[in-house]
Amino acid sequence: MQVFHTAAELRAALAGQTGTAFVPTMGNLHAGHVSLVELAKRHGQPVVASIFVNPLQFGAGEDFARYPRTLAADCEKLAAAGCAFVFAPDVAELYPVPQTFTVQPPDSLANDLCGAFRPGHFSGVATVVLKLFNLVQPRVAVFGKKDFQQLLVIRELVRQFNLPIEIVAGNTLREADGLAMSSRNAYLGASERIQAAQLQRELAAIVAAIQAGERDFEALTAAAARHLKMAGWRVDYVALRDAATLQAPTPDNGRLVALGAAWLGKTRLIDNLESALGNQP
Ligand code: PAJ
Repeated sequence: MQVFHTAAELRAALAGQTGTAFVPTMGNLHAGHVSLVELAKRHGQPVVASIFVNPLQFGAGEDFARYPRTLAADCEKLAAAGCAFVFAPDVAELYPVPQTFTVQPPDSLANDLCGAFRPGHFSGVATVVLKLFNLVQPRVAVFGKKDFQQLLVIRELVRQFNLPIEIVAGNTLREADGLAMSSRNAYLGASERIQAAQLQRELAAIVAAIQAGERDFEALTAAAARHLKMAGWRVDYVALRDAATLQAPTPDNGRLVALGAAWLGKTRLIDNLESALGNQP
């Protein structure tokens, strides 16, 4: 596996490749990221991963400075998973001039759910992903459902800008107690870590109620938020949406997704679970 820190080296190594499969990350890799590399391998060769903590997608007062940077350990995991190339630029390499030209996702995606609590976040994500797509020029790119709203932002970016890239979605890998794997889980103290699996349990309870026929979506999400608050979480949102559009669900068709974002102490966790309406899994 080769690791590149400059765009020029990356471009030279990838010249002429037409089947590249790409996995963008911010590093501090866990088994969830590795599963995306394995999924990428099934969709194209060579597999390229990027590791870049993108300042554009962090708000003032967010965790950009303390986000864990673990390049050597990350590269070992990527090499073991069969990744051929890693692109790990520094901020000056990817943003040699201030990035005043940015991508603004549609309001319905950018200002909703996580976007309502992290202004500018999805613009920062879309902008860096477009730059990375232009550098790597992949045929396929893999994103996790863990960041469900981000996945929809990227699908819309590709659709509206006619990018010749297939977006493949990977399932969320979880710890034994159900907590979604996340680089930010490392911020949790021991008792917070035990409590953290509650977010997933509340989303699972919503999905179970829907599959049992409950259709009062407002009552379900309000109850989940109340349970989390009673246990000491600061809740940004718990919501039920159409899984294809993230718009308000209609009671009779489509797949739903229950999404939540909430804080334990100084750590913000997000998670989501998809659900069919009716009794199908
Ligand atoms: P990061 O948080 O490092 O995540 C990289 C990819 O891993 C994303 O597609 C994310 O959805 C996926 N992922 C995270 N946790 C996962 C889990 N438990 N199971 C499976 N996949 C998981 O998302 C970003 O970085 C950035 O916003 C990025 C797209 C790289 C742009 O900067």
